[in-house]
Amino acid sequence: MAEQTRHELNTHHSGAELIECAEVSEIPDEGVIAVNVAGQPIALAKSDGKIFAVDNRCPHMGYPLNRGSVHDGILICHWHHAMFDLASGCTFHPFADDVQPYPIEIREGKVYIDVSANGASAIERWKVRLREGLEQSINLILAKSVIALRALDTAPDAIVEVGALYGARGRRVGWGPAMTILTCMANVAGKLSDPDKVLALYQGLLHVSDETSSSAPRIALAKLETDTHSLAQLKTWFRYFQMLEAAFQQAEELDEARAQMTLVAASRYLAAHAPTARARRQTANLALRLHRGDDLSADNPDEAVD
Ligand code: FES
Repeated sequence: MAEQTRHELNTHHSGAELIECAEVSEIPDEGVIAVNVAGQPIALAKSDGKIFAVDNRCPHMGYPLNRGSVHDGILICHWHHAMFDLASGCTFHPFADDVQPYPIEIREGKVYIDVSANGASAIERWKVRLREGLEQSINLILAKSVIALRALDTAPDAIVEVGALYGARGRRVGWGPAMTILTCMANVAGKLSDPDKVLALYQGLLHVSDETSSSAPRIALAKLETDTHSLAQLKTWFRYFQMLEAAFQQAEELDEARAQMTLVAASRYLAAHAPTARARRQTANLALRLHRGDDLSADNPDEAVD
């Protein structure tokens, strides 16, 4: 399925129910009024002759948006001056988050609104917001997204997945302490009560966001054109590449002699874990020569132990 845009996610509703909420004539030109629909506070705005409906609570800190102002299709909150596109609810100021828009219909001079939420699209919308919070290191968006996703019964693993994919792709040097912290938080989350679960997930995601924001991004290779490999096989490969990357990184920081030793140690590790019979034989040879105290710089690949 193609990835949905923020606008599509913001404006997706079930269309189950249209409720009459105001007369068109009540809404001033380039102005905004508050109405209450099925217990939900709604801001109805008119700009350039068109009518729009959004949640009346500013997504930043809850200021009533009907006390803001409207210009050229933009609603401006008067507390910290975040601006929102009335048609999509998308904000021009990421610190504030998007405001929830609602579809409306005009019939015989009256405004009808659909305030029914679609659970599946709400989860996708908050996952998008979580990823944006990670990218832009906005703690408030991270916290709000985790709270909203948990309120929608999203499993902790699905929340961690967003952070783990972002952390794995976003940092050229690969796995770092933040990913370890996120993994620990994911492991303990299942044993915590719900408020603490949210805190644990938030802390893990916060570290991933901080660590990644100061690093060049990773440009990923295209995925393997097969899904036939077992999880055990993929884990084994993952450890090879982890080992190799760690060795290369360390070698770059060491003098030549120590760098050589590090790379030899890494190749011994890889040979010892390699699946080929030839590599196993080479490892056995190495062990034999080490046992005898031979000069390992002398190449002697054909000596065998059986
Ligand atoms: S409460 Fe609206 S911008 Fe801060």
